[in-house]
Amino acid sequence: MKILVTGGLGFIGSHTVVELQEKGFEVVIVDDLSNSTIEVMEGITAITGKRPIFEKLDLKEKDKVEDFFRRHKDIVGVIHFAASKAVGESVEKPLLYYENNINTLVYMLKSVLNLDASNFIFSSSCTVYGQADTMPITESAPIKPAESPYGNTKQIGEEIIQDTCKVYSEFKAIALRYFNPIGAHPSANIGELPIGVPQNLVPFITQTAAGIRQQLSVFGNDYPTPDGTCIRDYIHVVDLAKAHVVALQRLLENKNTSNFEVFNLGTGKGSSVLEAIEAFEKVSGEKLNYTFAPRRPGDVIQAYADTSKANEVLGWKAKSTLDDAMLSAWNWEKKVSNI
Ligand code: UD1
Repeated sequence: MKILVTGGLGFIGSHTVVELQEKGFEVVIVDDLSNSTIEVMEGITAITGKRPIFEKLDLKEKDKVEDFFRRHKDIVGVIHFAASKAVGESVEKPLLYYENNINTLVYMLKSVLNLDASNFIFSSSCTVYGQADTMPITESAPIKPAESPYGNTKQIGEEIIQDTCKVYSEFKAIALRYFNPIGAHPSANIGELPIGVPQNLVPFITQTAAGIRQQLSVFGNDYPTPDGTCIRDYIHVVDLAKAHVVALQRLLENKNTSNFEVFNLGTGKGSSVLEAIEAFEKVSGEKLNYTFAPRRPGDVIQAYADTSKANEVLGWKAKSTLDDAMLSAWNWEKKVSNI
């Protein structure tokens, strides 16, 4: 069965391609290489022994998207990762984010509706909940006004898909709301490749330990949490990738109970920034140079998932611990930094 993975050379995309191939799916990757490199193909091939089909495609080019789908009518499922994801940049360049994340989604959906089998998995985010009123966060928690254009694109994206599902009963979609994906493949053949200064915690930690960054700033130690730092639900990217395969299989086997479903993907366990640092230091044996800095605007105090819906309905559960994820992230960093 042929599956299209957009953004398949990115961080979560590449790990999902590996899991799909390991389950016997034939994978076609499209990626515009704006935030990824073609070398990721080698990493995927080294792990699975199978080279996925790759086409460089910018999904903003509507005609090329249509042409792509005309040539690949036998696609039975689409996992749509391709999107811009830097929160700060989205505030500076809102139209770029609406164009990259919304226009492209509309073009994709129009083409997917023309396929014989329209099964669609969408990359959403826990950012849609904002600062949720109760922890852990269930899928029925209210959607809060978005803090950034990036967050808004995830909310609008879900709405666009939901509206589409209402009128096209043959179209089936699942939105997966990720908590904080971290780590790398245990083989250290693929991992996160941030361009420039990392905005996210774990790549900043590993680059600091590798000597690329001088010091990690811990944004805020006066939050109303046990140690004063923010709490997040860090999930190993391989666990996350496996959830995509399970969600896709649910659609392919017509096991969905509605043609639009939403699942939280997290571990269910909240960890503070200091606990994340501690886990890194323990598994790496490195002492991390960090300092406390002011709060970062837009950060929520805490966000961790109630994962019962994914556990019970999808039959999926995150298996890796924070320690496992940190170790894999460190092994990957050592490889890319030649340590
Ligand atoms: C962010 C985005 C989220 C996106 C996710 C993955 C916001 C508000 N949310 O999540 O929408 O889906 O990235 O791309 O930006 N931290 C430090 N020092 C650092 C970096 C981070 O202390 O140098 C802290 C943050 O304050 C936060 C935690 O580490 O408490 C995690 O931060 P980060 O990895 O950036 O993820 P989120 O902000 O949770």
